[in-house]
Amino acid sequence: MGATEQDTIPAGGSELDLLLATVLDQSGCDFRGYSQVSIRRRLEMQLRSEGLHTLGEMIPLVLSDARLLERVLNILLITVTEMFRDPSYYSVLRNEVMPDLTKRGVVRVWLAGCATGEEAYSMAILLKEVGLGDRAIVYASDLNRRALREAREGFYSLESIRTATTNYIASGGKECFSDYYSARYGQARIREKLRFTLHFFQHDLVTGETFGEMDLILFRNVLIYFDRELQGRVFSLFERSLRSGGILCLGAKETIELSDSRSSFTQILPRFGVYRKH
Ligand SMILES: C[S@@+](CC[C@H](N)C(=O)[O-])C[C@H]1O[C@@H](n2cnc3c(N)ncnc32)[C@H](O)[C@@H]1O
Repeated sequence: MGATEQDTIPAGGSELDLLLATVLDQSGCDFRGYSQVSIRRRLEMQLRSEGLHTLGEMIPLVLSDARLLERVLNILLITVTEMFRDPSYYSVLRNEVMPDLTKRGVVRVWLAGCATGEEAYSMAILLKEVGLGDRAIVYASDLNRRALREAREGFYSLESIRTATTNYIASGGKECFSDYYSARYGQARIREKLRFTLHFFQHDLVTGETFGEMDLILFRNVLIYFDRELQGRVFSLFERSLRSGGILCLGAKETIELSDSRSSFTQILPRFGVYRKH
């Protein structure tokens, strides 16, 4: 019979605590405020694929083997994403959120937890199509270095470009999507003009600084990995990073309601997790 989570990871999580402390020490990445159920599940999967049996066995390896540490970080920083992910959400961004931004001079956008860049390129396309391409400064951040490298390169599989095209059309995109990339040798690369409009950089939402005077922050599909306390800290970071009247876009099913920051925001599109800072 295969080992269960309870077999391999002692209740109380002392080995888990020690492992996360070791990961923090070795990498600077602090997963102690992440949802422990999901962290445990992922580490257990990694244990099996490394041929190990307990989290305790992993601790000395994390200390001595930089590649194992890298694999652990990659399994904990889940980078599942796609372009125009959830097309109805992008339709709302295009029709309900963008008009608000077009009234401003320079528009500052921060995409927090941008993974391998698909969300950032979707935003760059949207901004261009609503006439903000030359007036917008887009910062896209993530903690995962490998994901950021891929994001900067802007290479995607043809399969993901097919999904992106379908999503783009479903989101109300009217241009020819193939104008945004060039395809060669079975891969697609986002056109230089779009790539150069984005500023990708590493930023840790657990320990990172605020950015002043953002007009729009997009923070989708990351919140679920954080526990309530860390969620509250991240919302406070966004609150301090947005200008008054700035917009915070969470995922459609994500909410700020349970955090102390809720009193600083008004929900403007309830079904889509879109808030305006007072
Ligand atoms: C599931 S992806 C979401 C990607 C994109 N926002 C989307 O909705 O398609 C979650 C991302 O959050 C990033 N992340 C997790 N913890 C983070 C942290 N402390 N600071 C910055 N990014 C983090 C992960 O590296 C990963 O790329």
